[in-house]
Amino acid sequence: MPSFPEIMHRTFFRTLSLLSPAAQGVLLRRYFDWWHRSPDPWKLATDSYEQQKYLATLQHLPPRPYRRIIEVGCAEGVFTHALAAAFPDAEITGVDVSERALARARERVRGNARVRFVRADIVTHRPAERFDLVFCSETLYYLGRAERLRRASARLGDLLAPGGVLVAVHPWPEAARLHHYLDASLPRLAKEVYTATYRPFAISIYGTPQAEA
Ligand SMILES: C[S@@+](CC[C@H](N)C(=O)[O-])C[C@H]1O[C@@H](n2cnc3c(N)ncnc32)[C@H](O)[C@@H]1O
Repeated sequence: MPSFPEIMHRTFFRTLSLLSPAAQGVLLRRYFDWWHRSPDPWKLATDSYEQQKYLATLQHLPPRPYRRIIEVGCAEGVFTHALAAAFPDAEITGVDVSERALARARERVRGNARVRFVRADIVTHRPAERFDLVFCSETLYYLGRAERLRRASARLGDLLAPGGVLVAVHPWPEAARLHHYLDASLPRLAKEVYTATYRPFAISIYGTPQAEA
C-alpha cells in the first residue's frame, strides 16, 4: 500500500494533470524550477542508491553502437554526464522541463560539444530527430492521470529510430503502472526488478524493429 507522502505526491501531480497539457507544462516548469532552487535536490550525484541504479541501467543495455542518445527528464544532467563517458562517440541530448536544472546540467558538461540540453515538456515535445537510445528514468510519476501517461509514453516511443532502444527506470511496484503504455505499444526486450534495496526499482527495456533493407 502506498505511504501517505506517496498518496499526497500522486494527488498533487494528478490534480495538475487535470489541466490542459500546455497549462500542466507551465506549472510543472514553475514547480521544478522551484524544486531546483538549490543544487541537486535529489542528491543524484552523491547518493549511492542512485549510482547503483545508473550502473545497473548501463549494464543491462543491449550492446549496440549507439550514436544518438536522448535522456528525457535529465534534471541536472548527472546520468547524461555518465552517458557521455560511457558512449564517447555518441551525440547526447538531455531534455527537462526546468531551465534552472538545465543551467546546472550545461555547467556539468561544459566543453563537451557532443552533449546539449533542451528545455521541453515530455508531453508536448515533438523533435524532428530520432534516437537510437532513449532514456526516461524517475520522471513518469509526475505525469499524473492515465491519459497524460499514455501521451508521454507515445511521445517517448516517437523518439525512437528504427532498431532503437528505449529504457524506462522507475520505482517498483509502481513501475508496473508507469510502464504500462510502453508495455502495450513496444516490444519489450528485458525487464529487471531490483528488490534488494531500500527503494526497489524496475528497468524496462524496449526495442523497435530494424528498418527494412
Ligand atoms: C527525479 S528527476 C530524474 C532525474 C534523472 N532522470 C535521473 O534519474 O537521474 C525528475 C526530472 O523530471 C523533470 N520533469 C518532470 N516532469 C517533466 C516533463 N513533463 N517533461 C520533462 N521533464 C520533466 C523534472 O524537472 C526533474 O528534473
